[in-house]
Amino acid sequence: MEYIEPPPAPKLDEKKPKGKLPKVLLNDKDERQIIIQKAQIRDVEEILELVNAFAALNLMLPRGPQYLYENIRDFVIACDGNVPVYSLTETREVLHLIVACGSLHVLWEDIAEIRALAIHPDYQQLGLGKKLVEYMKEEAKQLGIRRLYTFTLTEEFFKMLGFRRQDRSELPPKVWGECSRCPKYFQCDEVGMVLEL
Ligand SMILES: CC(C)(COP(=O)(O)OP(=O)(O)OC[C@H]1O[C@@H](n2cnc3c(N)ncnc32)[C@H](O)[C@@H]1OP(=O)(O)O)[C@@H](O)C(=O)NCCC(=O)NCCS
Repeated sequence: MEYIEPPPAPKLDEKKPKGKLPKVLLNDKDERQIIIQKAQIRDVEEILELVNAFAALNLMLPRGPQYLYENIRDFVIACDGNVPVYSLTETREVLHLIVACGSLHVLWEDIAEIRALAIHPDYQQLGLGKKLVEYMKEEAKQLGIRRLYTFTLTEEFFKMLGFRRQDRSELPPKVWGECSRCPKYFQCDEVGMVLEL
């Protein structure tokens, strides 16, 4: 698919509908050019937009800017080099569209959590989710982490990647830290999954 034209940048006071991400304009020749890299400060706004669009659909935890800034070094992003968008700042700098993100959060000497894994709907089922998890697996190994876990609604996806279901009570209490910040604390519908590295 060939890139046609980026959508015009919204005006600063224009509110986006909740949970709706901009549709990526591509034509029949798929010229998507995916670059996976560590996130930078300038990516925070776009990552929030991606994650919170899914959070609005109850598919993942909502995140705020403070969380993103404090944990930006955990994040990996995928950009489409063929779809530039304009930043909303006065510089009108041309940025690349962030089409996926995920984060690896170390909790203890032997365990880290995969959080905030989100793929733009126009880029799902292309192997991108798998690639980001593999990237984070490598990062974890380099750090000397021996176990990855995640809480998810998409059990089948993580199963495909070798994760197995694990009861919350079998995980160290430190792992539940995020749960206490979750709006669904009393009606949790997520499944805990673990991968030994
Ligand atoms: C779930 C999600 C991360 C998957 O990412 P993706 O890029 O679409 O998945 P991939 O293309 O890498 O798929 C890898 C494999 O998992 C399978 N798969 C992907 N999503 C699946 C799902 N929801 N259920 C079952 N299998 C799934 C694919 O078919 C593929 O299998 P294959 O290798 O045999 O072809 C993505 O759909 C997403 O961002 N969903 C919304 C947010 C979310 O639910 N995040 C989950 C973390 S909390």
